[in-house]
Amino acid sequence: MRHYTGIDRLINSFDQALRSLVPGATAAHRSNPAEQTDAPLTVSDARHVAGLMRVNHSGEVCAQALYHGQALTAKLPNVRREMEQAAIEEQDHLAWCEDRLKELDSIPSLLNPIWYGLSFGMGAIAGIAGDKYSLGFVAETERQVSAHLIDHLNQLPVYDERSKRILEQMNEDELHHRDTALHAGGVDLPFPVKITMTAISKLMTKTSYYV
Ligand SMILES: [Fe+2]
Ligand SMILES: [Fe+2]
Repeated sequence: MRHYTGIDRLINSFDQALRSLVPGATAAHRSNPAEQTDAPLTVSDARHVAGLMRVNHSGEVCAQALYHGQALTAKLPNVRREMEQAAIEEQDHLAWCEDRLKELDSIPSLLNPIWYGLSFGMGAIAGIAGDKYSLGFVAETERQVSAHLIDHLNQLPVYDERSKRILEQMNEDELHHRDTALHAGGVDLPFPVKITMTAISKLMTKTSYYV
């Protein structure tokens, strides 16, 4: 196995951050579940859906950062492969949200570098705290993301099949990521940590919808 120096890791982290933040830099491994379905949205519906998809895209930027931060500090001897698989699926989500934003003539949130930095730090700290906390952090994040996705699915215009299919597939994946982390030994996080995570995610959803 190759030995990575501190500088290698730093360069690798910077590379991962750029891939997550620069539009078009992440390619999906699976085809976009939106497929051929198409019904043009009214102007006001398109604006609302773009806001929702921008929030979901920011959520996926956070997921990238969380998994990158975790990979840097957590040991995860028994579940590294599963966690890497989850990180690959998060790349699909990021690319699909980006595709949908483009279709709606919109752009990702300008605040994404801030969300990436915060999530990377939290993922890395959770990894330092120990694998059971790191996995608990993944499980709690995925639980909160799934709750958002269900809320957004309910807010979509009924005829927006493309967004619906993307969010449904994402939700299925997130619940699977949550279960994987729990089965691997993730613990329930202390209440103050959960509250902080909820507060940051609220701030993110409220702002990324607009900016
Ligand atoms: Fe995701
Ligand atoms: Fe996930």
